[in-house]
Amino acid sequence: VEQFFAPKLLQGKSILLTAGPTREAIDPVRYISNHSSGKMGFAIAAAAAAMGADVILVAGPVHLPTPSGVKRIDVESTQDMLSAVMQHVDTHDIFIGCAAVADYRIDQVAEDKIKKSAQDMQLALVRNPDILATVASHKPRPFTVGFAAETKDVEHYAKDKLIRKKLDMIAANDVSNPAQGFNTEQNALKVIWANGQQDLPTTDKQILAGQLLTLIADQLALLKD
Ligand code: CTP
Ligand code: CA
Repeated sequence: VEQFFAPKLLQGKSILLTAGPTREAIDPVRYISNHSSGKMGFAIAAAAAAMGADVILVAGPVHLPTPSGVKRIDVESTQDMLSAVMQHVDTHDIFIGCAAVADYRIDQVAEDKIKKSAQDMQLALVRNPDILATVASHKPRPFTVGFAAETKDVEHYAKDKLIRKKLDMIAANDVSNPAQGFNTEQNALKVIWANGQQDLPTTDKQILAGQLLTLIADQLALLKD
């Protein structure tokens, strides 16, 4: 209801975002993944659509309904998430990487279930591509926003990621605080961009999503001036 009255700040803009975890198969019955309910990313997708944007949401495996007005592409692995994103990156004004991407995948996925044996399982891992950094180095690139889930030194690590991945903006949260982050209804964000930053204090993820999108719309408008 509240969203019905949301100002159409993003009318005419297109937003591509990732949400949820990615999942890397070990064998047909096992996988490695990250904690992520997808709630923050889905809240941003819903708010963006309510604010008038065209929205494509590339989602890892989560148990959430598709927000109304949002086009959803379901993926499992990091490589599949990257290819879905790169198919749409040229046609979108804004990219927001909310996904908790698995940093590593299994080098050789077993075709059959691996049985326990005298010699316990050892997994060789290879590093996954960085979806956010790939988008940020694409030309022409969308306004590129990353997330940083940290357990300590939140501002330090977030600023480092902003610069290292050449982002326009980063939204950091402290996941060591059980009231925020994984699988909760509320969150708090420290949002940092090239020449400014703002703390968005603990509130419902829906409200936070609208606040973050407003900051993004402000920066986009400044860039266009
Ligand atoms: N990200 C991504 N692709 C990856 C890893 C991360 O797109 N392979 C994105 C996430 O969606 C998030 C941002 O990068 O927007 C930061 O993720 P995070 O895991 O905090 O950063 P990493 O660079 O993986 O650093 P760390 O070693 O702290 O995990
Ligand atoms: Ca990571």
